[in-house]
Amino acid sequence: MSRAPLLDIRRLSRDYASGGLLGGKHVTRALDDLSMSVAPGTIHGIVGESGCGKSTLARLVMALDRPTSGSVHFGGEDLFRLSARDLKRKRRDFQMVFQDPFGSLDPRQTVGRIVAEPLHVLEGKPGKAERRDRVAAMLEAVGLAPDHAARYPHAFSGGQRQRIAIARALITEPKLVVADEAVSALDLSVQAQVLNLLMDLRDRRGVTFLFITHNLAVVDAVADRVGVMYRGRLVESGPAQAVFARPLHPYTRLLADAEPDVTRFGRPDRPPVAVAEPIDFGVGCSFRNRCPLAVARCTAERPELRELEGGPEVRERLTACHRAEGLLETNTPG
Ligand SMILES: Nc1ncnc2c1ncn2[C@@H]1O[C@H](COP(=O)(O)OP(=O)(O)OP(=O)(O)O)[C@@H](O)[C@H]1O
Ligand SMILES: [Mg+2]
Repeated sequence: MSRAPLLDIRRLSRDYASGGLLGGKHVTRALDDLSMSVAPGTIHGIVGESGCGKSTLARLVMALDRPTSGSVHFGGEDLFRLSARDLKRKRRDFQMVFQDPFGSLDPRQTVGRIVAEPLHVLEGKPGKAERRDRVAAMLEAVGLAPDHAARYPHAFSGGQRQRIAIARALITEPKLVVADEAVSALDLSVQAQVLNLLMDLRDRRGVTFLFITHNLAVVDAVADRVGVMYRGRLVESGPAQAVFARPLHPYTRLLADAEPDVTRFGRPDRPPVAVAEPIDFGVGCSFRNRCPLAVARCTAERPELRELEGGPEVRERLTACHRAEGLLETNTPG
């Protein structure tokens, strides 16, 4: 990666403790020593099955939650070491778009108020005329009309509501937008429109996206790079199309096989494979019990993300698998 990363996540872990009914303590490790970085002006996809920790990662990147250990650097600054005041100032630089376009907009407020809200929270009270102009410009940027500002959310379709949510996220001109399953609730044709909008915002405004989904086809259509998560860990990362065309981790291959035509965007949204059992804290690879290639080493030693030896097909790619070289050979198109 040539440019300094906008987002640099280092060894991030998040445990959730829940007291059992009979007094026993149970700990879920939602994120497990995850490191990754995101270059500015790119769309970085995160995929993985339900419960693998995607939303936990999103909350930490947004500084809505604190890690058990590890750090998140945004524009070179460690978010969890900033004072409350500095963090508040920083917040206008990262915004979030959620999954549910119906639940996430207050039905009693006009679209104009909804879109302007981050300005009030993050920039003090802007003047009325300035606010109106910025809202109008933002609505146009997401393909809505300035006079939509006077209406209420119920007057809009799901896709339009998600555009409103994106306008609200962009009004402070953030550098990073975290989109957690932001198109999953939308019809396929509307999904495609919203994905085009995100790519357009990347290209014209240089917005960086952390784009979280369980749908491989969507990531393949929109992302520059992708990280594949399994049980709180990153098991593979690299250029999105290369990763799906030729997985180097057995789990990615399982995902790609379950979704045979990843590149044909427009498939029904569905979780590709079953939900994993609770995470074990043992050493070794967390995927070993489901892995067709597992050997004794996979139980004894935890695989770290690493580069593979090889030609152009492994460039800019990282894999956390002891057996990845074997997969590289069997994967060679021939
Ligand atoms: N506040 C919490 N308290 C306890 N456990 C939690 C909490 N938030 C998440 N978890 C657990 O952490 C793990 C990861 O959850 P997370 O919501 O990050 O998964 P996800 O990848 O976003 O899943 P999905 O695709 O279903 O949205 C799960 O086992 C979940 O039950
Ligand atoms: Mg989630």
